[in-house]
Amino acid sequence: MKYNLLFLICLLLTSCNQIQKEKKLSNKIVIAHRGASGYLPEHTLESKAMAYAMQVDFIEQDLVLSKDDVPIVIHDIYLDDVTNVANKFPDRKREDNRFYVIDFTYDELKSLQVTERFNPKTGEQFYPNRFPKWKGNFKLHSLQEEIELIQGLNASTGKNIGIYPEIKEPKFHQKEGKNLTAIVLNVLADYSYKTKKDNCILQCFDAEELERIRVDLKSELFLVQLIEHPEEAKQLAHFATYADGVGPWYKQILSEKVNNRFQFTNLVKEAHELGLKVHPYTFRADALAEFSSFDEMLKTLLIDANVDGAFTDFPDKVIDFLKKENER
Ligand code: G3P
Ligand code: CA
Repeated sequence: MKYNLLFLICLLLTSCNQIQKEKKLSNKIVIAHRGASGYLPEHTLESKAMAYAMQVDFIEQDLVLSKDDVPIVIHDIYLDDVTNVANKFPDRKREDNRFYVIDFTYDELKSLQVTERFNPKTGEQFYPNRFPKWKGNFKLHSLQEEIELIQGLNASTGKNIGIYPEIKEPKFHQKEGKNLTAIVLNVLADYSYKTKKDNCILQCFDAEELERIRVDLKSELFLVQLIEHPEEAKQLAHFATYADGVGPWYKQILSEKVNNRFQFTNLVKEAHELGLKVHPYTFRADALAEFSSFDEMLKTLLIDANVDGAFTDFPDKVIDFLKKENER
């Protein structure tokens, strides 16, 4: 009788632990960084559809304005490291020899071929083992086109996969006489992304701009303050006055190894104490740096450091990892 009771208590404790662990892991979100960009050229609709099929939680859109004020999904204000602009419009570069998205209309941008990222000076592909450069037939697209793809798939599959747009270089846009933020917020509202319930997370590296989005523009969206430099992490308490989460470079979560074991800075703990979610970037299976395997990277950051999500070029691998952790 005594042993039966002991057995039952053990069973109950084990299943409670398992439930808690599953709850914790299922709360971690997988963000397709520029789509499934480890497999297809970044920010193409094809890479977004592939990420969708992998059943990620969110798909990312970096946003830059065209000459005629269309928000284009592209990582940089430049075109020459992911398109054939230098061949197609050789006379349209600026004095710094770069080709700017903002100097081209939507129709001109649509006429370009998109390819896997490369160095425009050498022509060398940035990640040599990814999709081969200049193969296929990929195009740029607008924020509206991408939302229609994702919302259309949500309608046809019954899933509810979110969007994670980023306002890129707001000060550059202002200098060019453009208001990227206002245009993006209008498009988001047109497609019913208005509040924290609407499965849209808005991100920006520029802290002044993100604060303005909350305080002056009164956005009710879930806001994530991106963090580029370690010293910015000292401003977490201020970020918490307007943002719901932070997106640091993952290295800002790691500190010096002790006895060959990874140690952590206070960033995640402090952010959690302030009620901020932590979504570090960028988890790449083909750029491991200090890690000996992708699984080690995932375990160190997602489990040991307890972050709340990951921007990744390889969403399928992160999803598999979280599933396996749940089953352990
Ligand atoms: O936005 C967070 C993540 O995408 C990292 O930044 O430079 O790839 O836009 P980036
Ligand atoms: Ca981004």
